[in-house]
Amino acid sequence: MKRTALLMAVSILALCAAAAAQRVSGDWNAAPGGSHSPRSREIHLDLRVAHARDFAGSQLALTAGLLLPAEYPKHTIFYSTWNIVSAADWSSGFFPGSFWLLHEQTGDLAWRTLAETWTAGIEDQKFNTTTHDVGFMIFCSFGNGFRLTGDPAYRDVVLQAAQSLASRFNPAVGCIRSWDFGLWQFPVIVDNMMNLEILFWAAANGGDPLWYDMALSHALKTVDNHLRADGSSYHVVDYDPLTGGVLSRSTWAGFANDSTWSRGQAWAVHGFTMAFRETGELALLDAAEAVAGYFVDNLPADGVPYWDFDAPGIPDTERDSSAAAIGASGLIELSTLTVDPLRQRKYYDAARRILRSLAAPKADGGYLAEDTAGQPLSQGVLMHGCAIHPDSFAGGNVPDESLIWGDYYLIEAFGRYETIPPPGK
Ligand code: GLY
Repeated sequence: MKRTALLMAVSILALCAAAAAQRVSGDWNAAPGGSHSPRSREIHLDLRVAHARDFAGSQLALTAGLLLPAEYPKHTIFYSTWNIVSAADWSSGFFPGSFWLLHEQTGDLAWRTLAETWTAGIEDQKFNTTTHDVGFMIFCSFGNGFRLTGDPAYRDVVLQAAQSLASRFNPAVGCIRSWDFGLWQFPVIVDNMMNLEILFWAAANGGDPLWYDMALSHALKTVDNHLRADGSSYHVVDYDPLTGGVLSRSTWAGFANDSTWSRGQAWAVHGFTMAFRETGELALLDAAEAVAGYFVDNLPADGVPYWDFDAPGIPDTERDSSAAAIGASGLIELSTLTVDPLRQRKYYDAARRILRSLAAPKADGGYLAEDTAGQPLSQGVLMHGCAIHPDSFAGGNVPDESLIWGDYYLIEAFGRYETIPPPGK
């Protein structure tokens, strides 16, 4: 055990040193072709992304060096230290998931070692039947692990987690129940779209084929009941668990029942895109395009939304960089699925605009937690995430921090940006 800890510490130090050396020697201000461009000029996005990934790796490796394997970073506290949660928190899978994505994108085995360590700590959650978030927890950790290693033990964990999630399906409603707290009778939140992926995957990889039907039913019900005519989304729909009728449409993390919580809208963009990819159902493509249209058309100039599209006080209120990262990743995939060339271009260009902002250091007007000397401004990767705003219906105290899921979807978006060609190319 001691020997493992020592090896891990050595490998973390090596990763940090390598990432820091790359950041120093790799002049990310250099224009393609080797000539240098002044900071005031548009910097080539490929270089920005490569630099930001190195920064992300260095930040997350440093974080790993501070944690025990049963500890998971969630959000920073005043941009200094991470708030640490257990594997049972909805966000636990994003830390090992980020290491899996770094391993995939760099080929470096040291990232895999870190991914394996923090993935293992989440295994017990495969039996968690108390929340839809078992999908986030297990698919970002064990799901990525299986995809990248083919280890059958990882697949077994994913299948068990899918079974746990499926236990929350109510045939009268046609949906998975999202939450067990609160006064709702059968709450379904728009975020739940993301957690259908583990059911689609498991149904096709040795699990119960009915899990596919459950996930498809949930997605189509979400089209019917969560979306407004303008493509915006409600956060929470409460159903009658006996009749399946809609009891109310409201919010929890957003500003008001009739407002549009930006991260919920981003989950909808990413989630409906995934659901169309998995099913080929045209109603899901229509939904993905509708929510993407609203998301893109209502972004501020730098592509990073305020925490709620209808938040009071815009532009003098907080952004949510995690919504931008989730949206960018979904938009890049949607640009490959949509048929209309104009929409393909619209989604891809919006994603590029978002990444241009997210991958630029804070010191250059961007959202990366890095100052002019290349020094970190946070323990996280992105600045200006909003977990739960004090003005939200729920009332929160984390309006402006680094968020581990923002960092995860930023890295996912980098991978998609680098492997998915622009429309028409
Ligand atoms: N429920 C996930 C989130 O807060 O975005």
